Amino acid sequence: MLRLILLGPQGAGKGTQAVRIGEKYQVPTISTGAIFREHVKNETPFGLEAQKYMKGGDLVPDELVIAIVEERLKEEDCRNGFLLDGFPRTVCQAERFDQFLKSLEQSIDKVINIVVDKQVLIDRTVGRRVCKVCGATYHICYKPPKVEGICDVCGNPIIQREDDSEEAVTRRTEVYIKKTQPLVEYYNKKGVLAVINGQQSMDKVFQDIVDALGVK
Ligand code: AP5
Ligand code: MG
Repeated sequence: MLRLILLGPQGAGKGTQAVRIGEKYQVPTISTGAIFREHVKNETPFGLEAQKYMKGGDLVPDELVIAIVEERLKEEDCRNGFLLDGFPRTVCQAERFDQFLKSLEQSIDKVINIVVDKQVLIDRTVGRRVCKVCGATYHICYKPPKVEGICDVCGNPIIQREDDSEEAVTRRTEVYIKKTQPLVEYYNKKGVLAVINGQQSMDKVFQDIVDALGVK
């Protein structure tokens, strides 16, 4: 049983590490960003609303986000734990989430805060490419696909995310500092925070996370 939160700005490597953690500990990885992008792609009413905020790098309103996460966490596969990537992202979301967990007599085991310098974050996000169909993540320098422009996993084209433009990345950084950074102190006070240096190889970052979790 492992209930985890991955915290960190855009490009810190949350999605990259979430895949590895989910595989190792056999917990579902729930990325609010990925769920929202799926809604945008399918043009659902929620997706059309969320896109207005995501495109420019702003946060989707708390009420909409909380409803979607709570619904997802009630699914059967989350009974034995979960890994949240990109949620909570505001103090309001964190407080509501605590109440939700309390109502289920559950609590968070660890919040992993991946720390990376601002300049590296920009380089990682602007160079990121993602598969249009399966969402697998690449980087033009640090993790290129075997065949240029084609996903290794499913063979479909890889593209740049709409919110990885320089303007949106700049906005996302401002939003992170203002709205999400306070969560570092929020979880530190609760004694569940682990700080990880994200500016190392993907393997080393993963190893440090495993060590911080203390579960083999
Ligand atoms: P979301 O999808 O969560 O984006 P994000 O938090 O900005 O984070 P990213 O996905 O950009 O970065 P990442 O940390 O996952 O990095 P990655 O592993 O890809 O959210 C998108 C939007 O949805 C938000 O802006 C908001 O509008 C909305 N949203 C989502 N959740 C919300 C919420 N709770 N409330 C309100 N709104 C919400 O890595 C980045 C790149 O670096 C990749 O190319 C990767 O290959 C490379 N890389 C990774 N690790 C390394 C390494 N160690 N060395 C070298 N390269 C590396
Ligand atoms: Mg991500």
